[in-house]
Amino acid sequence: MDGADLSGVELIREAFHYRSRFAGSTLVFKVDFPVTEDPSFPVLMRDLALLARTGFRIVVVPGAKEWIDSVLAEYGMVSEYSGGVRITGAQSMPFVEMAAFHVANRFMTGLSADRVDAVIGNFVRARGLGVVDGADMENTGRVDKILTDSIGRVLGQGMVPILPCIGWSPAGKPYNVPSDGIALAASAALGAAKLFIVTAHDGLSRGSFGRAPDIEFAEDGRVTGLTPQETEAALRSLSPPPAGAEKTAAELRLALEASRAGVERVHLIDARESGSVLRELFSNLGSGTMIYADEYESIRPLKTKDIADILRIMEPLMKQGVLIRRNSQDIQEKKGDYVVFEIDGSVHACGALHDWGEGQGEIAAVATDPAFAEMGLGRRIVRCLIDRARKQGMRRVFALTTQTRDWFELLGFREDSVESLPGRKREIYDTGRKSKVFALEL
Ligand SMILES: CC(C)(COP(=O)(O)OP(=O)(O)OC[C@H]1O[C@@H](n2cnc3c(N)ncnc32)[C@H](O)[C@@H]1OP(=O)(O)O)[C@@H](O)C(=O)NCCC(=O)NCCS
Repeated sequence: MDGADLSGVELIREAFHYRSRFAGSTLVFKVDFPVTEDPSFPVLMRDLALLARTGFRIVVVPGAKEWIDSVLAEYGMVSEYSGGVRITGAQSMPFVEMAAFHVANRFMTGLSADRVDAVIGNFVRARGLGVVDGADMENTGRVDKILTDSIGRVLGQGMVPILPCIGWSPAGKPYNVPSDGIALAASAALGAAKLFIVTAHDGLSRGSFGRAPDIEFAEDGRVTGLTPQETEAALRSLSPPPAGAEKTAAELRLALEASRAGVERVHLIDARESGSVLRELFSNLGSGTMIYADEYESIRPLKTKDIADILRIMEPLMKQGVLIRRNSQDIQEKKGDYVVFEIDGSVHACGALHDWGEGQGEIAAVATDPAFAEMGLGRRIVRCLIDRARKQGMRRVFALTTQTRDWFELLGFREDSVESLPGRKREIYDTGRKSKVFALEL
């Protein structure tokens, strides 16, 4: 299901929720060069302008690789690379600067069209890479420091700072600095709430991999969310990247480094999908891939204020008889047993582990908000409860189910008899309900 399928009111509600959560925070946009050549570019600029005008602090890092290659080729110069990084010779440097500022200027022009002021600036202090693995990198540099005070002053005036792929030494010598390095350093130094990596190619999906890694794929094969550990697994499957997936691998590497540098959310999005930035930002059903700090950060113990949310998720299931009936008091009494899955401040799945003694725990009340079905939430909740059972020294977990046996089998549970249940549970087993027992030895 995608964000556009939400009812209008739900969408407005979500948009307000996200606006109040993120307004005033810094969002860094690393935009791949092909995006600037794509018909979707003016739409992207309009969306960034809208965000800047509504109180978000927008920072743009334009990638210029392909444009620099074509300018150099036009002037009869060959682009040389070492370890995927351009070697910028003294002769080509003026052309690289010209190309980098040309691309940055495209963004300034695009934002001007939407009446947002932008500043292309010397916000990056750089130093030369020197000789790396026997290759003299000449005028290629890396970020020494992001000048956050200068950027802060520009943002404070409601303007958008644009950071071309050039940095300057303290003595004023310019270096060509890869835009990925600038985006990473800027997001970390500015404490960005999000880094968007905007591309004009298909997003991450099952088809991106020769050999599929152990990560969750949505029904249509897309990868909607990744923890840093899963991102590492994805990168291992892309090593070496199959033809055409080199960019994807580089984007994932940047996302992983940014999340390790403390950026909580990194979004990979395809600019060609109209409104992809707004959907990714204002609805938790974005169209791209989100790399988020930690899977266990999304799952947390239930708080009293969440009870209404989980009852809203469970109510239709209780009505259908899929889940046994519980009211808020029942849940409150066993509050410590429950965990919830939270995405950007709202609860979308839950589950509980009840200790019945004899080394046995019951996994119960597992439910996922239908709008978030089949995105791996239920499975992660169960995995977390199994982890919890292990930590509490249990030797076995079981679930009683009438309609979800296949799902528990998928998770490795096997059918067992009612006699296998711990005594206290056996005594209250509802023979009329005829639930099946599924168990997993730990
Ligand atoms: C069962 C439930 C929790 C699954 O949640 P979810 O977050 O959508 O599930 P996940 O994304 O982790 O797992 C999806 C996988 O399970 C399969 N699946 C989902 N519900 C299933 C069901 N009822 N029976 C069999 N398989 C099911 C999906 O086809 C998918 O398979 P795939 O990975 O091969 O594509 C959810 O459907 C639900 O809330 N059901 C009603 C409550 C319930 O039955 N709870 C269990 C008793 S405590």
